[in-house]
Amino acid sequence: MNLTFIKRFITTSIGRKALMAVSGLALGGFMLVHLAENLLLFKGEAAYNAWVDLLLSNPVTPFLEVGLLALFIAHIITGVWVRVEDFINAPRGYEARKWQGGRTIGSATMLYTAAAILGYLAYHLLTFRFVDHSMGFYQMVTAAFRSPVFVTVYIAGAVALALHLSHGMQSAFQTLGVNHPKYTPLIKTGGLLVAVAMTGFALISLYYLLNIDLKAAEAGYQVVVIR
Ligand code: HEM
Repeated sequence: MNLTFIKRFITTSIGRKALMAVSGLALGGFMLVHLAENLLLFKGEAAYNAWVDLLLSNPVTPFLEVGLLALFIAHIITGVWVRVEDFINAPRGYEARKWQGGRTIGSATMLYTAAAILGYLAYHLLTFRFVDHSMGFYQMVTAAFRSPVFVTVYIAGAVALALHLSHGMQSAFQTLGVNHPKYTPLIKTGGLLVAVAMTGFALISLYYLLNIDLKAAEAGYQVVVIR
């Protein structure tokens, strides 16, 4: 694959849509893996910290992080580009007819949920990724989730993610031409299940806010309220 091929790929409308679909599906996969990682919080401090430490000490991880960043950038650029093109090429009156013809809340709010996810991600990285980790990851996360402000952001972010994926997953398969009477209903159901799974991020944060994590409380962890 040379640069000319990539250039041709993103300079055609079909190529841009395919790139948006593939990067979106890959990001959906990342979200599922990241959710599974964070469910380890329920296994306790040792298990969670051991996993994150293992991940960060792996020499492959920096390359995966660059790949992840590239996926986000590709998805955002192609998403905005395709959206602007669709807007320019849409027949007059299309915006007013948006809700007719099988539009869902997920499909009608893609742009807004995308912006909300971007804000949520920036907040998440600024408070969890680009900070001092010396207190340990488990301590950092569970202490943060005792702040109502923090958890409100996580609930709003998880709802935006769920809405975005409720349309995004199935739409990506459609863009890639996967349209089959037998498999399309399965893909739609699978996409909806992935979307619903995203509420798991909100539930994890709520679990700690509501102080159900009695083990941590008994251990007398210091509570750090982040506003
Ligand atoms: C319960 C909710 C979540 C928890 C507890 C959590 C936890 C963490 C932690 C501890 C890190 C830092 C690891 C490191 O320093 O490399 C991290 C990184 C990250 N998180 Fe989350 N996360 C959650 C939800 C999310 C969501 C919803 C998204 C996407 C919208 C997300 C995207 C990321 C990304 C992109 C990174 C950076 C990955 C890397 O640099 O390796 N996280 N998360």
